Amino acid sequence: MEKIRVAIIGIGNCASSLIQGIYYYKDKKPEEAIGLMHWEIGGYKPSDIEVVAAFDIDARKVGMDVTEAIYAPPNCTTVFCPDINPSGVKVEMGCVLDGVAPHMAEYPDNHTFVISKESEKSKEDIVKILQDTGAEILLNYLPVGSEKAARFYAECALDAGCAYINCMPVFIVSDPEWSARFEEKGIPMIGDDIKAQIGATITHRTLANLFRERGVKLERTYQLNTGGNTDFLNMLNRSRLDSKKESKTEAVQSVLGERMDDDNIHIGPSDYVPWQKDNKLCFLRMEGKTFGDVPMNIELRLSVEDSPNSAGCVIDAIRCGKLALERGIGGYLTSISAYTMKHPPEQFTDDVAVEMVDEFIDGERER
Ligand SMILES: NC(=O)c1ccc[n+]([C@@H]2O[C@H](COP(=O)([O-])OP(=O)(O)OC[C@H]3O[C@@H](n4cnc5c(N)ncnc54)[C@H](O)[C@@H]3O)[C@@H](O)[C@H]2O)c1
Repeated sequence: MEKIRVAIIGIGNCASSLIQGIYYYKDKKPEEAIGLMHWEIGGYKPSDIEVVAAFDIDARKVGMDVTEAIYAPPNCTTVFCPDINPSGVKVEMGCVLDGVAPHMAEYPDNHTFVISKESEKSKEDIVKILQDTGAEILLNYLPVGSEKAARFYAECALDAGCAYINCMPVFIVSDPEWSARFEEKGIPMIGDDIKAQIGATITHRTLANLFRERGVKLERTYQLNTGGNTDFLNMLNRSRLDSKKESKTEAVQSVLGERMDDDNIHIGPSDYVPWQKDNKLCFLRMEGKTFGDVPMNIELRLSVEDSPNSAGCVIDAIRCGKLALERGIGGYLTSISAYTMKHPPEQFTDDVAVEMVDEFIDGERER
């Protein structure tokens, strides 16, 4: 199989888990590979993905081989694949824009971003690197609230002719104007805001769907999340949070038969607890009414390592992006976006989305 050539923006915890996974599954056989939703997609295995370019702005990552930068601070996710040979791909300095929130400067270096003194790249520089390295897919892992930076790199993808996978909640793939531009150029896109394999969103959606299917009226719910990685530190700045809250809340609202009143649904990142590192805790409560208007409730506590959990979805999104490139499909991919993203252009329940993805992989569905 030829390789899937990927460029990554933001070599944080999510990129670390993804890259570790590409190497981790290399020597595995399908029957012993734990943690994948698909071993092969269109003939592509996880190890057929190759990172050919990488961009960051952190002094401890820029200039390093990407296979070393993934372990550099402030990354703190579990190391499940410690021995990776250097790939020869250096992390390039990107363009900071609004990627680093002002409050990040108030925290110790080992917990926060440290901006490199290297000069920032222009759009032309980045497009050239993408073209010179033959990158086919650009993966966006910027911090929440990087509205300008996310759009800047999406412009780079458009100019370089790269497919765009948007793993964070700046609404680009789900924005009709942006998706029309990608469709016009015949470039596929998948987004926005990656879901986890089994995380707070899919658990909450599944339970909400269960309430609906079993005729139980969901009256009030909350989902409070805490974590100790830079994603949670960044999200302490409430002004950066609007799109994350919208993305997470709509993911649940969209599977309810009847929308809940905004006052009765509260979902979002709730606090930063440094010692939790990349372990995310979700505290979920759902209050409903069953037969005869009789009240019931569910309390659930979920504990997951955040970044490998997202990589389990991205590893499929990348391979579906490659299939779309081979098939000449431009614009957003409905099925894999609905399956792997919290805020896709079109929402479906997860059991419908998984069928749509399998149809897409088998070539029975265009997108
Ligand atoms: N972990 C999950 O399960 C999960 C789920 C859904 C969405 N996400 C989203 O994915 C994104 C990445 O998450 P993460 O945990 O890897 O975050 P992270 O904080 O570990 O990594 C972000 C990286 O981006 C770099 N960066 C900042 N500004 C930049 C710029 N202008 N150009 C290039 N690089 C820049 C930082 O130096 C850092 O290396 C976040 O927006 C997060 O909300 C994560």
